[in-house]
Amino acid sequence: MGEKKIGVLCLKKLKKRGQKIAALTAYDYTTARILDAAGVDILLVGDSAANVVLGYDSTLPVSMTEMLVLTAAVARGAKHAMVVADMPFMSFQLSPEQALENAGRFVKEARAEGVKLEGGARSLAAVERIVDAGIPVMGHLGLTPQSHLQMGGYRIQGREADAAKRLREDALALEAAGVFSLVLEGVPWTLAQSISESLAIPTIGIGAGKHCDGQILVLHDMLGLSGAEYKFVKRYEDLESKLREAVGAYCRDVREGLFPAQEHQFEPEADSPDKQVAARQNPPAKQGRRSAP
Ligand code: KIV
Repeated sequence: MGEKKIGVLCLKKLKKRGQKIAALTAYDYTTARILDAAGVDILLVGDSAANVVLGYDSTLPVSMTEMLVLTAAVARGAKHAMVVADMPFMSFQLSPEQALENAGRFVKEARAEGVKLEGGARSLAAVERIVDAGIPVMGHLGLTPQSHLQMGGYRIQGREADAAKRLREDALALEAAGVFSLVLEGVPWTLAQSISESLAIPTIGIGAGKHCDGQILVLHDMLGLSGAEYKFVKRYEDLESKLREAVGAYCRDVREGLFPAQEHQFEPEADSPDKQVAARQNPPAKQGRRSAP
């Protein structure tokens, strides 16, 4: 996609051309910079940050303040990818005005380029108000983690005919309300396929099969950092093992006096009295002798 920033028009074009959209979650500057350089199209600052970054046991407790800090960090690292901020639980449910105020904060204070809201019919008024103000909105249907108490857990949605019909109607209503794309989470692939085919906007799937217009995963899941084993996740790395090994080696080196080594230290000036101390402690290697292999 060259150097240009990805935006809503570009995403629509990708769908039209049948080109799949690659999205991932990101929560900090360094990772955002790396994912951006690797060619990710959308960086979602998901409220999954509650679990994988902040250590809460669900997404419900994460606050606007916490999400704003994370979003601003990701935005500073993204030169190419579109940055979308997830609106946390209770940041948009009270009224369309509350929703607009908080969406505006993500754009103004944290430099997000869009916001995501969970929910169908019940979120429509909030979506319309935000879209009206010129802020791109991503919808989110299916297994919506902010409603896990009401859903009776994290269950696949839309398996029964009635539920599938409601989801299809919600998807069409969200498109009519102006969302620029729609996350479909935890739904049968057949339903995701029929919704994707009925919309002009791109669908982004997670646990929704291969017929969505794009895919998203929680970064920590696909890198093996969250300890979670889900059917819908492909694990591309086992970074937890790699990190443990690297940090274990560092701890051993420090305890055994192997780090820092000579090459990690700074020398005093040549005319400093400390130079003699340095020379006594680290005598230069003798000339003419071959070092041991
Ligand atoms: O919070 C999140 O990470 C999400 C994605 C999984 C879609 O909502």
